[in-house]
Amino acid sequence: MYTSYPKIIALCGKGGVGKTSISALVTKILSENNNSRVLAIDADPALGLSIALDMQVKKTVNDIRNQLINEIKDGSKLDKQTLLSRIDYEILDAMAEKQNFAFLGIGRPETEGCYCQINNFLKDLIKEVSLNFDYIVIDGEAGIEQVNRRVLEKVTHLLLISDTSIKGSQIVGSISQVADNTLGPHEKGVLFNRLKPGEEIPDHVQDTNIKILGSLYEDEQIYSFDRQGESLLGLSKGNNLSSLENALAGFGLL
Ligand SMILES: Nc1ncnc2c1ncn2[C@@H]1O[C@H](COP(=O)(O)OP(=O)(O)OP(=O)(O)O)[C@@H](O)[C@H]1O
Ligand SMILES: [Mg+2]
Repeated sequence: MYTSYPKIIALCGKGGVGKTSISALVTKILSENNNSRVLAIDADPALGLSIALDMQVKKTVNDIRNQLINEIKDGSKLDKQTLLSRIDYEILDAMAEKQNFAFLGIGRPETEGCYCQINNFLKDLIKEVSLNFDYIVIDGEAGIEQVNRRVLEKVTHLLLISDTSIKGSQIVGSISQVADNTLGPHEKGVLFNRLKPGEEIPDHVQDTNIKILGSLYEDEQIYSFDRQGESLLGLSKGNNLSSLENALAGFGLL
């Protein structure tokens, strides 16, 4: 059977610029478009995306990994095939489902150790699981480190989020450089968030390889939903959702 590879979108940027909020809104838009199947991956240990999407986290990928490591430490002999099917089962079990999207939390970052076999299986299985979806949306941790980690290695679209500060754009530039050296071929674009009325898109993005996708405005509803721990799936249709749709279309995602 022919399966096309999903579009894998990773949202990265400075701390607090809106990565989680926008990941939730991107999941909403893509999953409501043509009944596309979306897998939202929360790669931030704080698991904020689960709240923004109103998903219960039963267990994270890291919980599965630790559980298997403990079993092996306790003397269980898991042959390759058993281990593979266990991980397969556990990942499906950890995935929460809603309408057109599924959700998976990564949990705390793994510590590099001598459990390469399990790590590699997990990596392959996440890849395999991802084939059941049209889009994977990954809410990243703040900063540049995660671009280097295994969850992000197959990214097709790096969606950089920035506020209008110089610092925000500098971090976008650094992430972009790291991405050029570590990720395979991918599209790169920057979306500015929380512009005040009348504020212009800043012109201090240095890296000309990064496409400017547009901007979202400071939005009282986005802010109050977050404060009250409410899901962003219920955000009213308005300028920001339309601007985000346009940005996604300009990024070749819609
Ligand atoms: N367009 C917007 N209008 C108003 N508030 C916003 C907007 N975008 C994000 N926020 C608010 O900014 C704060 C940070 O947003 P969010 O948690 O999405 O950022 P983040 O980049 O994921 O942060 P972190 O780096 O801590 O993971 C939240 O209170 C959120 O409600
Ligand atoms: Mg976040």
